[in-house]
Amino acid sequence: MSRASFPHGFHWGAATASHQIEGAFREDGKGESIWDRFSHTPGRVQEGDTGDVACDSYHRIADDVALLRAMNLDSYRFSIAWPRILPEGAGAVNAAGVDYYRRLVDALLDAGIRPFPTLYHWDLPQALEDRGGWPERDTAGRFADYADACMRALGDRVDHWMIFNEPSIFTLMGYLAGIHAPGRRDLEAFLLATHTVNLAQAEAFRAMKAARADATIGTAFSMSPCEPAGDNEADAAAAERWHAFVNLWHLEPALRGRYPDAFTDGPPLERMGVRDGDMERVKAPLDFIGINLYMRARVAHSENAGWGIRAQPAGMGGDDGPRTDFGWEVWPKALYDMVMRVTRDYDTPVIEITENGCSYADGPDADGVIRDGRRIDFFRGFLSELARAIEDGADVRGYHAWTLLDNFEWAAGYSQRFGLTWVDFDDAKRPRTLKESGRWYAGVAAENGFET
Ligand code: FCB
Repeated sequence: MSRASFPHGFHWGAATASHQIEGAFREDGKGESIWDRFSHTPGRVQEGDTGDVACDSYHRIADDVALLRAMNLDSYRFSIAWPRILPEGAGAVNAAGVDYYRRLVDALLDAGIRPFPTLYHWDLPQALEDRGGWPERDTAGRFADYADACMRALGDRVDHWMIFNEPSIFTLMGYLAGIHAPGRRDLEAFLLATHTVNLAQAEAFRAMKAARADATIGTAFSMSPCEPAGDNEADAAAAERWHAFVNLWHLEPALRGRYPDAFTDGPPLERMGVRDGDMERVKAPLDFIGINLYMRARVAHSENAGWGIRAQPAGMGGDDGPRTDFGWEVWPKALYDMVMRVTRDYDTPVIEITENGCSYADGPDADGVIRDGRRIDFFRGFLSELARAIEDGADVRGYHAWTLLDNFEWAAGYSQRFGLTWVDFDDAKRPRTLKESGRWYAGVAAENGFET
């Protein structure tokens, strides 16, 4: 038997997002978000599900912190709902919204858990979408003001922050594919959005550092190692272009002040709204790189695909591993490959694994126990690969399982359960029960590793 072990002081955590768990969608002065509007629009979310109540975490701080403690976790990645802090996206701060996050942070600190908030996990104030949303350049300035407000509200007790969650996903899914809020399908809007988001990231970074110079600030990027579909040069080049696009489009501008080589004819700067001086403005020396990883990507060259990127990723991962209930391929080595590539290409940066997890529907057996062995296998596989990456020199400081609780999985509603904890959505009290995977994870956190 060998052992997967982790460095002393390694953070064991779980991740969530405001809209996916909080509920209380119009309580205490909260403004409408694009996800409130989207899920209230018939036909957008599976079964017409909404985040109106979700896991009711807004009223259950003590229950959620108790679950984190039961799993021996010492880091909690959650997100702040912009429309709770600034209901119209700008203007006066809503004191009740700030108070909720202060109470959450204080409860975490009392329990010895690091509060690790994300400023934006997709719930844009609807009022800002009405003024153009992310394609509108002005949104970057509004976001920097919001970042400043968050730092002023919580910076006395929160040291570690993330600016965005998965910028490449929310721009693509929201403005090009139309599958996520605000549900637009517009290539020009999408291209503009990607650049506004890069401006916003850097402006928020500067605003936060101005308010508190010693804060530690990164972003949680969605990443998938990109492999060529076929054993040929065209596919290999396409895989590199797709890597530049899905993994680096919001990282390379921050760290190096340039757009990576995703488009065969160069980045469409004009259509993206890039102005003189912008490539200096988008720079932000992030203190760490957050990696959200679920799967690998297999990519083929295609003349017509990808709006000038000429690359076509196949399905949800490759074809060799088993699939989760969401149809995503389980391929643990993807985590090793991605962490090592970022380590090589960015000179061994500090890395936090900000999300990794799987959807399985396993529910309570007759005795009430939730035997989700496939989820344990998933974490075993990915954590073994992470331990190997650390052994090979990667500077990874923490791991956050997605997710603490079964929750509102965006356009899939409540049909996909990613939680270490079971939530009964038929019961108004939203009772929570730790799954077998949660018990297993508690042991890993307690022992800072596991027997493989
Ligand atoms: C990620 C999101 C997260 C969750 C997981 C399953 O892309 O960041 O909110 O939905 O996928």
